[in-house]
Amino acid sequence: MKAFVHEYGELQLKEMDKPFADHGQVTVALKTAGLNRRDCAVPGRRGEKADALILGSDGAGVIESVGEGVTEFAVGDEVIINPSLGWYENSDVPPEQFEILGMPDHGTFAEHIVLSAEQLEKKPAHLSWDEAGVLALAGLTGYRALFTRGGVTKGETVFIPGAGSGVATFLIQFAKQAGARVIVSSRSAAKREQAEELGADRAIDTNSSWPEALADETVDLVIDSVGKATFNRSLEVLKKGGRIVTFGATTEDTVELNLRSFFYGQYQLIGTTMGSREELRAMLDYVDSHQVQPVVDRTFPLHEASDALNYVKESKQFGKVALHIKE
Ligand SMILES: NC(=O)c1ccc[n+]([C@@H]2O[C@H](COP(=O)([O-])OP(=O)(O)OC[C@H]3O[C@@H](n4cnc5c(N)ncnc54)[C@H](OP(=O)(O)O)[C@@H]3O)[C@@H](O)[C@H]2O)c1
Repeated sequence: MKAFVHEYGELQLKEMDKPFADHGQVTVALKTAGLNRRDCAVPGRRGEKADALILGSDGAGVIESVGEGVTEFAVGDEVIINPSLGWYENSDVPPEQFEILGMPDHGTFAEHIVLSAEQLEKKPAHLSWDEAGVLALAGLTGYRALFTRGGVTKGETVFIPGAGSGVATFLIQFAKQAGARVIVSSRSAAKREQAEELGADRAIDTNSSWPEALADETVDLVIDSVGKATFNRSLEVLKKGGRIVTFGATTEDTVELNLRSFFYGQYQLIGTTMGSREELRAMLDYVDSHQVQPVVDRTFPLHEASDALNYVKESKQFGKVALHIKE
């Protein structure tokens, strides 16, 4: 089968052995895969490793074979993959065995994948293959960040810097459906317009003065995954006693924090990462009942996965980027 791999410090399309389902596993013939910023970081983390690793955390496809003991799925079922490996029940933190699909295990940028049946969910019927293939990781992360950890409530104002991010496009939709007022920032005028079309109440320029732009707003909750470039600026526009949730650091992990301003402000800083299978299922119910549609900015064929990674690396997208594996 064709697979997009990282080996010896290089990215390439390669012929790999097709995997077969063992006890409790299924083989999925993938139709689409979804990109996440993590996929851009994996090569750097692996360095010169010699074993070929198939990249990719997100994907959707059709079950091609089932191993012994699998009763909940059958050949021909249309499924999406849950990339949050080994985290099934809700919990404050992921269990020890938690991993993200696509490193160290083989991921979704391939014609086939074998996984435990525990990691599959039925494809939401209202979604296209592209939409289904990009949903899980960003949708799950956004859902836990906004609801479980952020505790958003109706009527609150949520500020989301970096509107172009895949997770942000889910956050905008989820928060609006939850009855919140949603403000975003983006460096791009086109993305600001797209964010408003998607439902954001306001979209401000990331490069403007936020205290000035938001002087007439009371921000209850910030969800900031941009990292160093925006973290302290986000705190400046958060109301005293407000919550800031973080799960990403696109622009560097380390920030300087003025503790005195922080504790006088009585702020709450909340970390999160992906989510449990229970949260994934709650997110899928939410997507189904509110007919949420993932924003797919662009699709690339599998053999152009390097171009797709560069597109994401340069933050050109508004929303998600998908790989077409099989029509
Ligand atoms: N912990 C987890 O479980 C988890 C899960 C998912 C994602 N993440 C992390 O969360 C972050 C968001 O991921 P993503 O894939 O949704 O989006 P992404 O592709 O990392 O996009 C982030 C957005 O940040 C903004 N941005 C980038 N550079 C910037 C700069 N120098 N100044 C200001 N804004 C800048 C851009 O918004 P504009 O172009 O609109 O300005 C960009 O679209 C990533 O760091 C990712 O690794 C973590």
